[in-house]
Order: sequence, then C-alpha cells, then structure tokens
Amino acid sequence: MSVLTIMPSGKTAEVSPGTALISAITGSGESLACTCGGQGGCEASHIFVLEGRKTLSKAERTEHAMLDGIVGVSSKSRLACQAKMGEEDVTVEILSFV
Ligand code: FES
Repeated sequence: MSVLTIMPSGKTAEVSPGTALISAITGSGESLACTCGGQGGCEASHIFVLEGRKTLSKAERTEHAMLDGIVGVSSKSRLACQAKMGEEDVTVEILSFV
C-alpha cells in the first residue's frame, strides 16, 4: 500500500497500486465534479501532482489530448481518472479553479 496525501485538506489514504487516483480521492471524502464517468472527457479530474509523479502510471494519448485543451495546465498536471497509483507515496493538489 502507498499513501496518497490530498492537498489542500491534508487528508491521507492508503491506496493499493493500480488504483485510479479519482477513486482514492473520492474514497477519502474529497469531491471531484466528474461529468464524464472517468473517461478523460470533462476536465473535472485535473489535479496537480506535487510529489511522486514518477510512480504513477504513464499518461496515455487520451489524457495528453485532454490536458492539451485545459487552461492552467502545468508540468504537474494529470487527470485523476487516468492516473493510477504506483508503489510509492504520492501527494496531489485538488484545484479550486476547476
Ligand atoms: S473525470 Fe472527467 S476528465 Fe477525469
């Protein structure tokens, strides 16, 4: 199990490798206003990965295409519905401007 820390609340959750970040985030009680069913089509799961980016699953074409069209994207950006936990701890930031 790896530890996911969610900012700005500071909540933490133990998460099994392979779990989608959106499941871990919503399972901890945080909300992401997903309207696409976690298919990478609504921008609602745009998060910043503050620590542990390299342990996450690699971004696929769908995620890259969606991120390309989102305002405010940075090198820390991932879609929580597409990124899956790895073997190491991760810290993410839920974006208030989404
Ligand atoms: S939940 Fe819609 S883009 Fe990730």
